[in-house]
Amino acid sequence: MFSSLAGYNRFVYIAAGVAALGGLLFGFDTGIISGALLFIREDLGLSPFLQSVVVSAILVGTIIGAGGTGPLADRFGRRKMAIVGALVFIAGALGSAFAPNVEILIAARVVLGLAVGASTVIVPMYIAEIAPPPIRGTLAALFQLAITLGIVLAYLVSYALAGAEAWRWMLGLGAVPAVVLGVGMLLLPDSPRWLVGQHRYDEARAVLQRARDSEEEINTEMEEMEEAERREEAGFGELAKPWIRPMLVVGIGLAMLQQLVGINTIIYYAPTIMEATGLDASVSILATLGVGIVNVIFTAVSLLIIDRVGRKPLLLVGLTGIILSLAILGFGYLLPGLAGAVAYVTFAGLILYIASFAVSFGVVLWVVLPEIFPLKVRGSAMSVCTILHWSSNLLVSLTFLPLISAVGETTVFWGYGVISIGALAFVYFLMPETKGRTLEKIEADLRERAGASSAQTGEVTS
Ligand code: GLC
Repeated sequence: MFSSLAGYNRFVYIAAGVAALGGLLFGFDTGIISGALLFIREDLGLSPFLQSVVVSAILVGTIIGAGGTGPLADRFGRRKMAIVGALVFIAGALGSAFAPNVEILIAARVVLGLAVGASTVIVPMYIAEIAPPPIRGTLAALFQLAITLGIVLAYLVSYALAGAEAWRWMLGLGAVPAVVLGVGMLLLPDSPRWLVGQHRYDEARAVLQRARDSEEEINTEMEEMEEAERREEAGFGELAKPWIRPMLVVGIGLAMLQQLVGINTIIYYAPTIMEATGLDASVSILATLGVGIVNVIFTAVSLLIIDRVGRKPLLLVGLTGIILSLAILGFGYLLPGLAGAVAYVTFAGLILYIASFAVSFGVVLWVVLPEIFPLKVRGSAMSVCTILHWSSNLLVSLTFLPLISAVGETTVFWGYGVISIGALAFVYFLMPETKGRTLEKIEADLRERAGASSAQTGEVTS
């Protein structure tokens, strides 16, 4: 199981680990608000409406951050944008911690969202572009592992600091990993692929010399990168080209479906879901911590097996688990009046759901997105996909509670179940397998396939 981890020098692990701190911040900053909110609402005297604005402000920021970052990362590089991102993370955390009123708090949370959105474009891309192909899945999965750790950390920090004024500390602590991210990225080089795209071949080779073990690997990869570079054109316009379109459909589909299967109803509202079964608040919170820990464990499992099992089989198995667990969750609420039984069935459903998601969709999205797009448009394409990803997140988070009061838990969970069945079909029929090949080989195969199909239909591809 661990064989895929061995054999590479420490540099690639450090580079991926530092970049993955962007994920830790993503998880922490999105996770911390549910705990902090209990105290913010007392302290600043917030109405239910203002509370929901405080919670969703970050998501508004993520959509803008995700959209703006891709083209900038294609132009100025992944490393520079990661450093800017770290600064924005720091500004957002400190702004929230010192906010004198709710208006500034909301503004600071939007700023934080800019950085969270940016991290979902830059981090997966940077890691995929610096990773040796045989362990690219494992390294890119570090991003999701860090997200899940950040969520648990947020739960723990909000228990540890529970107290009227401590919400400022809860929000401010996010500045610490952001400083480490910024300093770390200052010390790391840019991705070799982006450097090749800038015709900075010597620098790219120098990075590969640190990140690969044999001269042969370096030469082959340099050749492949340079060749791909000569073939490509840059810019948003390229995204409309027929040979890229199928991948854009796959990327957008995966990015939206990862949210539309309902993951964040569990991540954001697990205590509410558990309380609705008749458990009291403290047990519900403990159950939530359990959900967070299972999330980390199964993400780690996925990280260890993704390069052997492949992205697609993992996703198909995970989605099957998701569908089953949503069936169970919906069913639990139909059990009449048996408070205890409902709680057990619901908890079992939650755990099965989170384990299935963690082992599959959680990791696979961030691994596959940067893999399926060619270098010159990778940033722009990631932006298009992540804008829709975060918009879907916002849609699900805002509609979950109103939907439950309108049609009840059972219908809502079974609704996500139906979407998950659609996701299973989407993955089965449309998603390509990308494990093991270099990014350039994936691209070349893509062109070839597009060429073959356009030859059949008489379409011109380039
Ligand atoms: C993924 C999702 C994110 C979710 C997390 C839970 O990264 O994109 O929205 O909160 O997984 O582990």
